Amino acid sequence: MLREIVGEAMRAPNTGNMQTYSVVYSRKGEARKALEALHFNQPASTGADLLLTVCADFNHFTRWCRLSDADPGYDNFLSFTSAMTDAVILAQQIVTAAELRGLGTCYLGTVTYNAPEIAALLELPELVVPVACLAIGWPADDGVESERLDVDAILFEDHYPQLSDDEIRKNYEAKDLYGPNEKFIKENGKQTLAQVFAEIRYPRSTNEPISDKLLAYLKTARFLK
Ligand SMILES: Cc1cc2nc3c(=O)[nH]c(=O)nc-3n(C[C@H](O)[C@H](O)[C@H](O)COP(=O)(O)O)c2cc1C
Repeated sequence: MLREIVGEAMRAPNTGNMQTYSVVYSRKGEARKALEALHFNQPASTGADLLLTVCADFNHFTRWCRLSDADPGYDNFLSFTSAMTDAVILAQQIVTAAELRGLGTCYLGTVTYNAPEIAALLELPELVVPVACLAIGWPADDGVESERLDVDAILFEDHYPQLSDDEIRKNYEAKDLYGPNEKFIKENGKQTLAQVFAEIRYPRSTNEPISDKLLAYLKTARFLK
Protein backbone atom coordinates (compact mmCIF):
# COMPACT_ATOMS: atom_id res chain seq x y z
CA MET A 1 0.00 0.00 0.00
CA LEU A 2 2.90 2.37 0.79
CA ARG A 3 4.37 1.86 -2.69
CA GLU A 4 0.95 2.51 -4.21
CA ILE A 5 0.42 5.69 -2.15
CA VAL A 6 3.87 7.12 -2.91
CA GLY A 7 3.52 6.14 -6.58
CA GLU A 8 0.23 8.04 -6.82
CA ALA A 9 1.71 11.04 -4.98
CA MET A 10 4.59 11.15 -7.47
CA ARG A 11 2.08 12.20 -10.17
CA ALA A 12 2.16 15.64 -8.48
CA PRO A 13 3.59 18.57 -10.42
CA ASN A 14 7.25 19.22 -9.66
CA THR A 15 9.95 21.61 -10.84
CA GLY A 16 10.88 20.78 -14.43
CA ASN A 17 9.93 17.15 -13.75
CA MET A 18 13.40 16.70 -12.20
CA GLN A 19 11.75 14.88 -9.24
CA THR A 20 14.29 16.09 -6.73
CA TYR A 21 12.89 14.30 -3.70
CA SER A 22 13.17 11.01 -1.86
CA VAL A 23 11.35 9.28 1.00
CA VAL A 24 12.81 7.13 3.79
CA TYR A 25 10.28 5.01 5.69
CA SER A 26 10.76 3.67 9.21
CA ARG A 27 8.61 0.88 10.59
CA LYS A 28 10.14 -0.68 13.70
CA GLY A 29 13.34 -1.64 15.48
CA GLU A 30 16.28 0.31 16.83
CA ALA A 31 16.51 2.78 13.93
CA ARG A 32 12.83 3.63 14.32
CA LYS A 33 13.26 4.16 18.10
CA ALA A 34 16.21 6.46 17.46
CA LEU A 35 14.13 8.44 14.96
CA GLU A 36 11.26 8.77 17.45
CA ALA A 37 13.72 10.19 20.00
CA LEU A 38 14.77 12.83 17.45
CA HIS A 39 11.07 13.76 17.21
CA PHE A 40 11.15 14.18 21.03
CA ASN A 41 9.02 11.02 21.35
CA GLN A 42 5.91 12.94 20.38
CA PRO A 43 2.86 10.65 20.66
CA ALA A 44 2.28 10.86 16.90
CA SER A 45 5.85 9.61 16.33
CA THR A 46 5.73 6.73 18.81
CA GLY A 47 2.14 5.69 18.07
CA ALA A 48 2.13 5.62 14.28
CA ASP A 49 2.62 2.47 12.21
CA LEU A 50 4.93 4.28 9.84
CA LEU A 51 7.16 7.36 9.81
CA LEU A 52 8.01 8.81 6.39
CA THR A 53 10.88 11.24 6.15
CA VAL A 54 10.45 13.22 2.94
CA CYS A 55 13.67 14.78 1.67
CA ALA A 56 14.65 17.56 -0.69
CA ASP A 57 17.08 15.55 -2.81
CA PHE A 58 19.33 16.93 -5.52
CA ASN A 59 21.84 14.11 -4.97
CA HIS A 60 20.50 11.52 -7.42
CA PHE A 61 19.77 14.12 -10.11
CA THR A 62 23.25 15.63 -9.73
CA ARG A 63 24.84 12.20 -10.05
CA TRP A 64 22.75 11.42 -13.15
CA CYS A 65 23.92 14.71 -14.72
CA ARG A 66 27.58 13.84 -14.07
CA LEU A 67 27.11 10.34 -15.47
CA SER A 68 25.51 11.92 -18.56
CA ASP A 69 28.34 14.37 -19.26
CA ALA A 70 26.31 17.35 -17.99
CA ASP A 71 27.52 19.97 -15.47
CA PRO A 72 25.09 20.10 -12.51
CA GLY A 73 24.78 23.48 -10.77
CA TYR A 74 22.49 22.52 -7.91
CA ASP A 75 24.64 23.12 -4.82
CA ASN A 76 22.97 26.43 -4.01
CA PHE A 77 20.05 27.86 -2.05
CA LEU A 78 17.78 28.27 -5.09
CA SER A 79 18.05 24.54 -5.79
CA PHE A 80 17.30 23.80 -2.13
CA THR A 81 14.10 25.87 -2.26
CA SER A 82 12.95 24.17 -5.46
CA ALA A 83 13.69 20.66 -4.13
CA MET A 84 12.03 21.56 -0.80
CA THR A 85 8.92 22.83 -2.59
CA ASP A 86 8.65 19.64 -4.63
CA ALA A 87 9.26 17.44 -1.58
CA VAL A 88 6.57 19.23 0.44
CA ILE A 89 4.07 18.98 -2.42
CA LEU A 90 4.89 15.25 -2.62
CA ALA A 91 4.33 14.95 1.14
CA GLN A 92 0.91 16.57 0.95
CA GLN A 93 -0.06 14.32 -1.97
CA ILE A 94 0.98 11.34 0.19
CA VAL A 95 -1.35 12.72 2.89
CA THR A 96 -4.22 12.91 0.39
CA ALA A 97 -3.61 9.43 -1.06
CA ALA A 98 -3.27 7.93 2.45
CA GLU A 99 -6.36 9.65 3.84
CA LEU A 100 -8.42 8.56 0.81
CA ARG A 101 -7.65 5.02 1.98
CA GLY A 102 -8.88 5.78 5.52
CA LEU A 103 -5.42 6.20 7.03
CA GLY A 104 -4.65 9.04 9.46
CA THR A 105 -1.60 11.28 9.04
CA CYS A 106 0.27 13.88 11.07
CA TYR A 107 3.21 16.05 10.04
CA LEU A 108 6.06 16.24 12.55
CA GLY A 109 7.64 19.70 12.44
CA THR A 110 10.45 18.38 14.64
CA VAL A 111 12.04 17.16 11.40
CA THR A 112 13.35 20.70 10.92
CA TYR A 113 14.44 21.12 14.55
CA ASN A 114 16.67 18.07 14.38
CA ALA A 115 17.38 17.95 10.65
CA PRO A 116 21.16 17.31 10.92
CA GLU A 117 20.70 14.54 13.51
CA ILE A 118 17.95 12.93 11.43
CA ALA A 119 20.13 13.20 8.31
CA ALA A 120 22.97 11.41 10.16
CA LEU A 121 20.64 8.67 11.44
CA LEU A 122 19.15 8.04 7.99
CA GLU A 123 22.62 8.26 6.40
CA LEU A 124 21.52 10.98 3.98
CA PRO A 125 24.31 11.95 1.57
CA GLU A 126 25.10 15.55 0.59
CA LEU A 127 22.37 17.47 -1.24
CA VAL A 128 19.71 15.45 0.62
CA VAL A 129 17.88 17.31 3.40
CA PRO A 130 14.87 16.06 5.38
CA VAL A 131 12.08 18.63 5.01
CA ALA A 132 8.91 16.84 6.12
CA CYS A 133 8.07 13.90 8.32
CA LEU A 134 4.71 12.16 8.18
CA ALA A 135 3.38 9.84 10.85
CA ILE A 136 0.88 7.47 9.24
CA GLY A 137 -1.44 4.88 10.77
CA TRP A 138 -4.97 3.64 11.15
CA PRO A 139 -6.76 6.29 13.23
CA ALA A 140 -8.06 5.36 16.69
CA ASP A 141 -11.03 7.72 16.34
CA ASP A 142 -12.48 10.41 14.09
CA GLY A 143 -10.60 13.26 15.81
CA VAL A 144 -11.89 16.78 16.27
CA GLU A 145 -12.06 19.41 13.55
CA SER A 146 -9.88 22.37 14.53
CA GLU A 147 -10.57 26.04 13.80
CA ARG A 148 -9.38 28.06 10.80
CA LEU A 149 -9.27 31.77 9.95
CA ASP A 150 -12.11 32.98 7.76
CA VAL A 151 -11.21 32.69 4.08
CA ASP A 152 -11.54 36.48 3.69
CA ALA A 153 -8.67 36.90 6.15
CA ILE A 154 -6.24 35.43 3.64
CA LEU A 155 -7.82 35.74 0.17
CA PHE A 156 -7.29 39.14 -1.49
CA GLU A 157 -8.16 40.49 -4.93
CA ASP A 158 -5.51 42.34 -6.99
CA HIS A 159 -3.50 43.69 -4.07
CA TYR A 160 -2.71 43.07 -0.43
CA PRO A 161 -5.02 45.23 1.70
CA GLN A 162 -3.88 47.62 4.44
CA LEU A 163 -5.65 46.07 7.40
CA SER A 164 -6.46 48.11 10.50
CA ASP A 165 -5.62 46.75 13.96
CA ASP A 166 -9.34 46.14 14.49
CA GLU A 167 -9.56 44.10 11.30
CA ILE A 168 -6.60 41.98 12.40
CA ARG A 169 -8.22 41.47 15.82
CA LYS A 170 -11.50 40.53 14.16
CA ASN A 171 -9.82 38.07 11.81
CA TYR A 172 -8.19 36.31 14.74
CA GLU A 173 -11.43 36.09 16.76
CA ALA A 174 -11.95 32.69 15.13
CA LYS A 175 -8.90 31.50 17.09
CA ASP A 176 -9.22 33.67 20.19
CA LEU A 177 -12.79 32.51 20.83
CA TYR A 178 -12.41 28.86 19.85
CA GLY A 179 -13.23 26.87 23.03
CA PRO A 180 -10.24 24.51 23.16
CA ASN A 181 -7.88 27.48 22.70
CA GLU A 182 -9.28 29.19 25.80
CA LYS A 183 -8.39 26.06 27.77
CA PHE A 184 -4.93 26.19 26.22
CA ILE A 185 -4.43 29.77 27.52
CA LYS A 186 -5.43 28.83 31.06
CA GLU A 187 -3.26 25.70 31.13
CA ASN A 188 -0.24 27.78 30.12
CA GLY A 189 -0.97 30.55 32.63
CA LYS A 190 -1.21 33.20 29.89
CA GLN A 191 -3.67 35.99 29.09
CA THR A 192 -3.90 35.62 25.32
CA LEU A 193 -3.59 32.88 22.72
CA ALA A 194 -0.90 34.86 20.91
CA GLN A 195 1.20 34.71 24.10
CA VAL A 196 0.91 30.93 24.08
CA PHE A 197 2.29 30.87 20.53
CA ALA A 198 4.94 33.59 20.82
CA GLU A 199 6.13 32.90 24.37
CA ILE A 200 5.64 29.17 24.87
CA ARG A 201 5.10 27.13 21.70
CA TYR A 202 7.28 28.95 19.15
CA PRO A 203 9.31 31.59 21.03
CA ARG A 204 12.19 33.67 19.68
CA SER A 205 14.50 31.99 22.19
CA THR A 206 14.13 28.64 20.39
CA ASN A 207 13.39 29.92 16.87
CA GLU A 208 16.69 31.78 16.55
CA PRO A 209 19.11 29.01 17.62
CA ILE A 210 17.19 26.42 15.57
CA SER A 211 17.30 28.73 12.59
CA ASP A 212 21.09 29.12 12.99
CA LYS A 213 21.47 25.34 13.32
CA LEU A 214 19.47 24.83 10.12
CA LEU A 215 21.57 27.34 8.18
CA ALA A 216 24.79 25.68 9.36
CA TYR A 217 23.40 22.27 8.35
CA LEU A 218 22.43 23.52 4.87
CA LYS A 219 26.11 24.42 4.42
CA THR A 220 27.21 20.90 5.44
CA ALA A 221 24.60 19.47 3.09
CA ARG A 222 26.16 21.73 0.38
CA PHE A 223 23.01 23.71 -0.41
CA LEU A 224 24.60 26.89 1.02
CA LYS A 225 28.14 28.19 0.53
C1 LIG B 1 4.69 21.48 8.75
C2 LIG B 1 3.81 20.97 9.85
C3 LIG B 1 4.39 20.58 11.04
C4 LIG B 1 3.59 20.04 12.07
N1 LIG B 1 4.19 19.56 13.19
C5 LIG B 1 3.46 18.89 14.11
C6 LIG B 1 4.09 18.26 15.20
O1 LIG B 1 5.32 18.29 15.34
N2 LIG B 1 3.32 17.58 16.08
C7 LIG B 1 1.96 17.50 15.95
O2 LIG B 1 1.30 16.85 16.78
N3 LIG B 1 1.32 18.11 14.91
C8 LIG B 1 2.04 18.79 13.99
N4 LIG B 1 1.43 19.37 12.91
C9 LIG B 1 -0.04 19.32 12.81
C10 LIG B 1 -0.62 20.71 13.06
O3 LIG B 1 -0.43 21.09 14.39
C11 LIG B 1 -2.10 20.68 12.66
O4 LIG B 1 -2.21 20.43 11.29
C12 LIG B 1 -2.78 22.04 12.98
O5 LIG B 1 -2.80 22.26 14.36
C13 LIG B 1 -4.23 22.07 12.45
O6 LIG B 1 -4.93 20.98 12.95
P1 LIG B 1 -5.71 19.99 11.95
O7 LIG B 1 -4.74 19.57 10.89
O8 LIG B 1 -6.16 18.85 12.81
O9 LIG B 1 -6.86 20.79 11.41
C14 LIG B 1 2.19 19.93 11.89
C15 LIG B 1 1.62 20.35 10.68
C16 LIG B 1 2.42 20.83 9.67
C17 LIG B 1 1.80 21.21 8.34
